[in-house]
Amino acid sequence: MQLDAVPPDVLVDLADIDLYDPATFRTADQHPTWRTLRVQAPVWWHAEGGGTGFWCVSRYADCERVVKDHRTFSSEEGTILASVGVGDAAGGQTITLTDPPEHALIRVPAMRTLGHAIVQQRSQAIRDRVVELIRPCADGEVDFAVLMRRLPMVLAGEFMGIPERYWDDIALWAGACIAPDDPAYALGRTPAQTLRLAHHELFACFRELVRHRRAHPGDDLISVLIGVTDNLSGQGRPLDDWRILLNCYSFILGANTTTPNVASHTLLALIERPEIWAGLAAPGATAGLVEEGIRWTSPTHHLVRRASADTELGGVRIAKGDWVAAWVASANRDEAVFDDPFTFDITRSPNKHLGFGGGPHYCVGAPVSRLALSVLFEELTGRFAGFESTGPLVHLQSNWINGLVSMPVRGTPRRQPAPGRSGS
Ligand code: HEM
Repeated sequence: MQLDAVPPDVLVDLADIDLYDPATFRTADQHPTWRTLRVQAPVWWHAEGGGTGFWCVSRYADCERVVKDHRTFSSEEGTILASVGVGDAAGGQTITLTDPPEHALIRVPAMRTLGHAIVQQRSQAIRDRVVELIRPCADGEVDFAVLMRRLPMVLAGEFMGIPERYWDDIALWAGACIAPDDPAYALGRTPAQTLRLAHHELFACFRELVRHRRAHPGDDLISVLIGVTDNLSGQGRPLDDWRILLNCYSFILGANTTTPNVASHTLLALIERPEIWAGLAAPGATAGLVEEGIRWTSPTHHLVRRASADTELGGVRIAKGDWVAAWVASANRDEAVFDDPFTFDITRSPNKHLGFGGGPHYCVGAPVSRLALSVLFEELTGRFAGFESTGPLVHLQSNWINGLVSMPVRGTPRRQPAPGRSGS
């Protein structure tokens, strides 16, 4: 299946739209649906889902307002479709599930470990890890989607101070939490059992890591979380262990839901456009590729919020308490904002995609992801003259994440280093 195929001019019937069922995303390209919504019903009531239904917001301007206007559209009760109607048990306790001003409690210290300057200081360590990660590509066929599962751990592991021996397990459990319906992550007999099991394993692992960091503090994110004092509540107390574990979960999921899928989808876009590959060997050429890769992939299909007041959006009345899904994947292909939105254009400028979200929750991992993805494609284009697909793509069964479960590829090694590269 070709997920990024240019959508046909025919629009789909509104009555046939189901953006809640995860299986929809495994078997069909959703761009025709989002395009239909942008044209016919930009703020549309999705009656099925979570028992309550939810608003589907598909135009860029409306999605941007939903993610930026935290006073009207709150993150406190959940930010994904799975929370619609039931809320998220971690609501009000994590960086993701708090609104300003409480949100700053974790956000500000987290920026100290994931900010641009720190990321630059660690850039060589990240490059070394990425080079190690792509080594199997030189041996023939690899499943790039499987290989890239480790990429977020290279980042989150490095910045959270998680020893490498945990990385593969954490990536697997995170995958099961993200897509418990997908057969690739079926750890239990049912999706609910898979989710319980993966949560249990992840939290047991975080508990051990936090215990270790209490005894041996460092400059990593877990140590920073241990040092946070909740002055905002007026109590001046450190975070309790449960809150620290929930925030570890937020960071691990933030990294695992997104980075591997941007890497795989971007390589796929390049395989389909081999003419772009040659130009990428020039130093500095990968920055535009990464931005376009994020816009193109939009790894989080949607960002959910709950209205905390009656309001109007795109001329439609939203009632206090309504759930609202901002389909950023749709916003990132909005014809009103992007010229030729279905063209993969690495020279696109400006490229103000909503792939990292916007407003107070703008991705805290953006600096490290941009660097790592840029390094990844520098190293790939330096070593290989191109890649080809060698087997069928398998898409993740998820209404939340635009993921690839399997993507077999083979690289053609360069006979000589790319111009301007050492080829080391
Ligand atoms: C290309 C890679 C990435 C993309 C496209 C991406 C995308 C996003 C998006 C769309 C949001 C907003 C969520 C919302 O508004 O509800 C977000 C937030 C977040 N991301 Fe990322 N992310 C990426 C990589 C990472 C990495 C590597 C980490 C961890 C090191 C991370 C950690 C987080 C966290 C903790 C938040 C919540 C921030 C807050 O609420 O203030 N992300 N990300």
